[in-house]
Amino acid sequence: MNVADLRARLLAWYDAHARDLPWRVGPAEHRAGVRPDPYRVWLSEVMLQQTTVPHATPYFLGFTRRWPTVTDLANVEDGDLMAAWAGLGYYARARNLLACARAVARDHGGVFPDTEEGLRALPGVGAYTAAAVAAIAFDRPTNVVDGNVERVMSRLFAVEDPLPGSKPELKALAAALVDDHRPGDWAQALMDLGATVCKPKSPICDRCPISMHCAALARGDQDSFPRKTRKAARPRRHGIAYVLTQGDAVALVRRPDKGLLGGMLGLPTSDWTASPPPVGEGAPAKAAWREAGEIEHVFTHFSLTLKVFRAEGDAPDVVWTPIETLDALPSVFLKAARQALLAPRLL
Ligand code: ADE
Repeated sequence: MNVADLRARLLAWYDAHARDLPWRVGPAEHRAGVRPDPYRVWLSEVMLQQTTVPHATPYFLGFTRRWPTVTDLANVEDGDLMAAWAGLGYYARARNLLACARAVARDHGGVFPDTEEGLRALPGVGAYTAAAVAAIAFDRPTNVVDGNVERVMSRLFAVEDPLPGSKPELKALAAALVDDHRPGDWAQALMDLGATVCKPKSPICDRCPISMHCAALARGDQDSFPRKTRKAARPRRHGIAYVLTQGDAVALVRRPDKGLLGGMLGLPTSDWTASPPPVGEGAPAKAAWREAGEIEHVFTHFSLTLKVFRAEGDAPDVVWTPIETLDALPSVFLKAARQALLAPRLL
């Protein structure tokens, strides 16, 4: 493969087709010497690790409006940050985000380290985030490999070994392509190619600037990459959520720091188990519980069926929360609250 030709083609495509994204300094501005704000790059990368650009964008805009600098973010109360993060999922990330912002503010005078190693030493910053911020914010020639880049490499080189075992091989293939002259643009060009052209299903090869280098396309079976080992089906769990109201307020409980949705406010629930638990298990109080339907929610490692019960009454050790602020709850609880409250049109 002619690597110089491949680099030149992909970067020329990026110059013409780069997506306009709120955390990005586009290729023309970048060439003119504009440098991205490391805070915005870091924040976008953390958000984008678990969701898509369209879903993350309003969160990114909201965060940067409320907290324009890393020092502003470092001064946020934990609860306010968790509420603002609600809906993005993986709540341990939100706690890591805050720990990192506070470390940058406290130990680095509010200035992000400008090397991959320096970034990696920050709390909650993993190998991917360190590589991505070093490349995009500081033009360090790091190897930025996420799922999109793995897919592009698997097709370009028709890698037969299945994921996840092939990760090291895909990473090594990507490392050999990194462009030392424009590392930040290179990383983002690969991301854009993966997101808009070399898509998981039905890649648009006739719009691909590097299709002449693609081994999978040459064989005509680009859709079949990356190869994957068959996943076990996601197990199903069952639980009960309790919507206890007192006028316009709903009883919430703070979840333990460790574990799924750790540290978030949520509805009181039973444990989530393989078979449905008995009614009343995990209820915040004895009450005249009425069944209000059920909801489904898919987590990374299991699917959850939650039966929803509703009652009016009082309970000890709960946080009474106005119904109109429930949209700061994690999605699973918002769904359950809506299920219980929508019938009488309260939410
Ligand atoms: N996905 C992950 N990081 C990204 C970025 N910086 N721009 C676009 N998509 C991304």
